[in-house]
Amino acid sequence: MKGIILAGGAGTRLHPLTKVVSKQLLPIYDKPMVYYPLSVLMLAGIKDILLISTPHDLPLFEKLLGNGKNLGISISYAVQKKPEGLAQAFLIGEKFIGNEDVCLVLGDNIFYGSGFSKVLQQSLEHVKSQQEAVIFGYYVDDPERYGVAEIDNNGKVISIEEKPENPKSNHAVVGLYFYPNSVIEIAKNVKPSSRGELEITSVNQAYLEQNKLIMNKLSRGYAWLDTGTHEALTEATEFIKAIEKRTSLKVACIEEVAWRMGYIKDAQLLTLTEKMNNQYGVYLKSLL
Ligand code: G1P
Repeated sequence: MKGIILAGGAGTRLHPLTKVVSKQLLPIYDKPMVYYPLSVLMLAGIKDILLISTPHDLPLFEKLLGNGKNLGISISYAVQKKPEGLAQAFLIGEKFIGNEDVCLVLGDNIFYGSGFSKVLQQSLEHVKSQQEAVIFGYYVDDPERYGVAEIDNNGKVISIEEKPENPKSNHAVVGLYFYPNSVIEIAKNVKPSSRGELEITSVNQAYLEQNKLIMNKLSRGYAWLDTGTHEALTEATEFIKAIEKRTSLKVACIEEVAWRMGYIKDAQLLTLTEKMNNQYGVYLKSLL
């Protein structure tokens, strides 16, 4: 399976913070925001990753992450000229995806929870064996800000709406989606919404109509953090800081993930720490 990180958008909601730097490069405690979704793909076992961003920001992501070789993975880059919707990722990434299944993660979504890697790896396997889409729901107080899934008593999705005025449930659809290769054809048939975007919700609706969509609920024990407002951004930093301090472990430390997943060996991890004469480097050394 291939992985795509979509890190586009104008980020106007966070101005002036995002006037010169992309939202997904802003710090969440001790690392740039994009480390969090990147670690999600890596934990799923995905090693071939495409990062999509604006023409202005793409070189900065490249500077930060390079070709991924030092993490034992491959990272390539593509431009989204205008913010024309999340589903456009599959059109921009068509060649990159090739004949494989694909996981899309939004560059500003942060996940935390014990056992999450297993959930990710099972989702990947489900797509592979059943050729169905796998999405994730999270209970929120403000569903009107998100894609919203209506579910029946058995937990089956009945409908999905994008930012509805009158949400049918409190289950937000989070920014992490596993799709079979058919997503490319589906995305090609998506029509722009009233806000002029190719909505990921339209893709999910298409799988729902085909009866090929399942939603996993990320329930108690999982945190899905929003970074859409100044307040939420600070809260995310405070959350990660508290977890890291109490557990003495880092969240979304991509170097550690690469090492734990066996993408790099001890010697390569040691090389990565060489230029990090700080607490982050000390942490990486301590793993060895
Ligand atoms: C997007 C999707 C929405 C999803 C959300 C998750 O919204 O359109 O369905 O719930 O991401 O972060 P956006 O953040 O682009 O407004």
